[in-house]
Amino acid sequence: MSALERIADLLRAAHLDSALTSPEAIRSIVSERRRATGIASDDAYADLAARSSAEFGKLREQIAVPETWLFRYPSSFETLRAQFMRQARRPVRALSVACATGAEPFSIAATALAAGVHPDDIHILAIDPNPDALERARTGDLGRMAARGEIPNWAQQYVTVLPNNVRVAPEARACVDLREGSAPAALFELERGSFDAVFCRNLAIYLSDTGRRAIGEQLDALLHPDGILYLGHAERPALFGLESGFESVQGGQPGAFAFARRSVATPAVNSVPPVQSDRWADRDRAPLPQTSPARPATIAAPKPPSSNAAAARTPVTVTSNEPTESKMLQSARAAADAGDLHKAADIAERIHSTGDRSLALMELLGAVHLGLGDVISAESAWRQVVYLDPQNVEALLHLAILADRRGDAALAQRYRARAAKGTS
Ligand SMILES: C[S@@+](CC[C@H](N)C(=O)[O-])C[C@H]1O[C@@H](n2cnc3c(N)ncnc32)[C@H](O)[C@@H]1O
Repeated sequence: MSALERIADLLRAAHLDSALTSPEAIRSIVSERRRATGIASDDAYADLAARSSAEFGKLREQIAVPETWLFRYPSSFETLRAQFMRQARRPVRALSVACATGAEPFSIAATALAAGVHPDDIHILAIDPNPDALERARTGDLGRMAARGEIPNWAQQYVTVLPNNVRVAPEARACVDLREGSAPAALFELERGSFDAVFCRNLAIYLSDTGRRAIGEQLDALLHPDGILYLGHAERPALFGLESGFESVQGGQPGAFAFARRSVATPAVNSVPPVQSDRWADRDRAPLPQTSPARPATIAAPKPPSSNAAAARTPVTVTSNEPTESKMLQSARAAADAGDLHKAADIAERIHSTGDRSLALMELLGAVHLGLGDVISAESAWRQVVYLDPQNVEALLHLAILADRRGDAALAQRYRARAAKGTS
């Protein structure tokens, strides 16, 4: 067995997708790690990766990138906030699988605080196998790219955006237990049915089908009977083998990618009155500042392009503003959120055929086609996204993965290098 095959085996044992870990796909990544470690041969490097979990972690990081930011998919946090506001059960518990540098669990913490939950009643467990990413999370200094989209008004008191850094407030960090571990193994020991919200976002794209299903089984077991599962924009419960058990949260926001068990009649999660701050009157600590009232339900707005030049190149200018998003695009998004990807693709393609090449539409098409397994259409849509928004990290990473799947490791590496520039 060649050295690259041995390394590929190690990566597959960690549940990574075989297309991303084939000897061709990992050749340039291994060369890069050999350069970084000063190791002369692939054989010697394979030995190192087998015996050093730290080095294996560095290798895995080149494939499953610790890419994240605060309030990613803002609608999901509106849905989560409404969930926490209406849930009487205390404490509230959330799980963030693949938390990377912590932006996701910290966003969950800020959301719970803003929903009026007492800090002592917020328990968030965040898991990731990457020790460097967790170390960064522990500092609370997430780097400037952690605030890429909009921070909701109600969460701004927990986030400080500085010119070259984004800092999360200690009270939000204190709610989060950051633990090194890999799914599914790290999930076996956790209490069944104990998590009100389970986040597992943007991990599935890197994993084998077996790995996703093994994780899905655990997510299902860990979620409270009336809990909510939060996934990434191109992910659906079916990807985790949970197709029959879950459906989109009724009354949840479009773009929330939030799923509840079919057996649970989910009330309209947005129709909850703001929590009164005097609920902690019987506690010996002062209540947190009153949170602002819930924003009205909104359609998830795509991220704005990262440069004005990109905006200038947009052939049709309907890009990111909620009020200008067409009704058709809204219904395509709603269909995608409801898990009806065929309908979403159909509507989105009809809009596309009118000549619309807006960022919002192309992002939706990329996600929907990827979800349907149509990698050719997905790739073409993500390419258009990168044309409109050259630093769109999400699109660049999707393109890297798709190039890997085609066996074009050199192109994948170029996309990754561009994405890395955008995250630093
Ligand atoms: C793209 S990030 C996702 C970050 C965050 N969930 C989000 O959506 O913003 C992918 C993360 O998955 C982590 N990862 C890779 N394999 C994993 C596994 N088996 N279990 C848990 N996390 C894993 C990587 O270390 C990386 O930090």
